[in-house]
Amino acid sequence: MRESGHLHRPRGLFCNIGNCSSCLMVVNGEPNVRVCVERLAEGMVVETRRGRVNSSDTY
Ligand code: FES
Repeated sequence: MRESGHLHRPRGLFCNIGNCSSCLMVVNGEPNVRVCVERLAEGMVVETRRGRVNSSDTY
């Protein structure tokens, strides 16, 4: 789902209730979306978040 910021190790679901940051991905160009609690929509573009991404970054 995403890579860790420092060592770029793969990360997946951990809490699955929106309380951690393990599932952060880029959704429709918006970085740092917790996809475990994000409602799916047709045409949604979901991408792997690589490394550290600030919310002010354009992706
Ligand atoms: S898995 Fe913890 S917030 Fe999504």
